Amino acid sequence: MRKKVTKAIFPVAGLGTRFLPATKSVPKEIMTLVDRPLVQYAIDEARAAGIKEFIFVTSRGKGALEDYFDQHPTLEQELRKKGKDALLETLKETNMESGAIAYIRQHKALGLGHAVWCARRLIANEPFAVMLPDDVIAAETPCLQQMVEAYEETGGNMVAAMEVPPEKASSYGVLDVAEENGQVIKVKGMVEKPKADEAPSNLAVIGRYILSPSVLQNLNKMKHGTGGEIQLTDAIAEDIVNENNVHGFRFRGQRFDCGSKAGFLQATVAFALARDDLRDDLARYLEDIVHIDKAAQ
Ligand code: UTP
Repeated sequence: MRKKVTKAIFPVAGLGTRFLPATKSVPKEIMTLVDRPLVQYAIDEARAAGIKEFIFVTSRGKGALEDYFDQHPTLEQELRKKGKDALLETLKETNMESGAIAYIRQHKALGLGHAVWCARRLIANEPFAVMLPDDVIAAETPCLQQMVEAYEETGGNMVAAMEVPPEKASSYGVLDVAEENGQVIKVKGMVEKPKADEAPSNLAVIGRYILSPSVLQNLNKMKHGTGGEIQLTDAIAEDIVNENNVHGFRFRGQRFDCGSKAGFLQATVAFALARDDLRDDLARYLEDIVHIDKAAQ
């Protein structure tokens, strides 16, 4: 019987420089798509996939993120008094059970691989998920749940993969494909941020992973990789050499890169259009401004 994936690491210790000056005092993960912070989307996806323990790798200035998951008795009392039951429910969904959430500090932003390694003692000898809240995925079945289901068949390591245009491949970890079997791709290599003409495929890794504890052992001896950072991709790729058990997974859904301004804006519009209370007004507004813009040109 394969061990169930019940732990997830959320590496959120990055500096978020692409959103300066906002991220000078607001953690990127607290920025909102409509009215829910990015991190709430990640938590909901994790819960749907059966995750019970949520491990955040944080850094200086992330206090707002830690506060976000606490209960807020005065606010709850006020909403109850005013009979605002729907808002009360919304608020309660953000509370985390005591002991379900842990915060580990990454003392220096040495890269995603290093951030994951910082949580090694809380993972011990179990498979675990890694979720980057910057990547928001709109999907009928939440992305991590799709992966957990596929992982039950494959075991090993699994990374979410999507096709990107060739000129974008150098921004991602890219898969070297051995064999495709429906949504599951057997991987024979992985390259972090390859040069434009050296990408082994157009399949990019995005921020959802199910990893075996052997990746943590690989990280133990990892040197700084591309960009001087300790790369998670390199540690996963090492498992291909040692154990030949890395799979890509073509998830069904739309991924938004909310770590970039353009992606964040697109996600904001898409999630607002998906809401009954906002759709009509926003759609009308968008049509109007597109017409005005076209007329001006
Ligand atoms: P990014 O590459 O998006 O970096 O990290 P960043 O610092 O968040 O943002 P920019 O590029 O400066 O705007 C991808 C994910 O890895 C985490 C980030 O918090 C983000 O969730 N990360 C990155 C760490 O936790 N530690 C690191 O040392 C680097």
